[in-house]
Amino acid sequence: MIYHRHFQLKKYNAFQTEAFAKLFCEPETIEELRQAILDYPEEQKLVLGAGCNLFFTQDFDGLVIRPNLRGMREMPDQEHDSVMVEVMASEDWDSFVAHCVENGYAGLENLSFIPGSVGAAPIQNIGAYGAEVKDCILEVIALDIHTGESFSFSNHECEFSYRDSIFKRTRKYIVISVVFRLKKSFHYVEKYADLNKELAEVEQPSLSDVREAVIRVRKRKLPDHLELPNCGSFFKNPYISAEIAERIKSEYENLPLYPVEGGLLKTSAAFLIDRAGFRGVREGNVGTYPNQALIIVNYGTADGNEIVRFMNRIRDAVNTKFEILLEPEVWMF
Ligand code: EPU
Repeated sequence: MIYHRHFQLKKYNAFQTEAFAKLFCEPETIEELRQAILDYPEEQKLVLGAGCNLFFTQDFDGLVIRPNLRGMREMPDQEHDSVMVEVMASEDWDSFVAHCVENGYAGLENLSFIPGSVGAAPIQNIGAYGAEVKDCILEVIALDIHTGESFSFSNHECEFSYRDSIFKRTRKYIVISVVFRLKKSFHYVEKYADLNKELAEVEQPSLSDVREAVIRVRKRKLPDHLELPNCGSFFKNPYISAEIAERIKSEYENLPLYPVEGGLLKTSAAFLIDRAGFRGVREGNVGTYPNQALIIVNYGTADGNEIVRFMNRIRDAVNTKFEILLEPEVWMF
């Protein structure tokens, strides 16, 4: 395995900002991955998947590891009328979803067309159109980033919550594979207004009807990161108290609200950013996408700090207007 020195990371992060890694390697096997950990015990380490949810604001003074672990195996699961599939971390997420839909395996179709790798899916518990990946995950296999020791995490041990998991919180593990349990039968359940609307004309939508509808909605609202560099939703949808919700609703009656744990309500960051006057706003090389205010787009800067400055302008505007501090969903280094 080759260790590159002073390695340019621009094409390995979806915002395409420029930064150098002191050291960089691409292990092809679990053994090589473990070797990389052990070869540089003193270096701080950063593991990259497809780089779709992070960007760089400065050089990384350590070892950047970009595993290339491929493969998939299926195991029947008669007991639950389902199938179990173990997928290696570097497989492309949407190709895996397409494979499931083609084979009639249900559970992940609402998560179609999300950019990224399979290994990244449990880290931030990806979600869309009323589904979260945690509901189909049986187990995650990961290595300790300091020792290379292998661990298996049950669904419960992953400590999943909205866009969060033990992997995201501790940054202590490298996901090497994910075991999914998928249903072999499918019946469409209405969960999300946008998707229901798209499927309104279809009687008994099939798995591929749902996948195609999701892809259409996403293409309308979200820019392709290969054409317009972006990291998807930049902020998490905030949880707010009933009092704050009432106060905002007195001015904006159609504020989206969903009850969540602890008596709180989840509202829409896009709605708040939009009402704070930041939809489709461009400042220099950075802006919010006209069709979805939650997406920050890089129109041409090489400097991640320009994105951070724009992010702070949005946070200040939302905080001033609504007294809600948005929390970034994207990772910044
Ligand atoms: N809205 C606005 N202005 C906008 C966009 C949206 O006011 O510019 C309002 C609308 O009222 C809309 C509501 O916000 O009904 C919600 O918008 P949308 O359906 O686009 O969903 P979202 O809450 O903004 C979340 C996820 C997306 C996911 C969609 C669809 C988060 C942080 N984001 O966005 O995930 O695709 O739901 O389920 O939870 C991602 O994580 O990168 C991502 C794209």
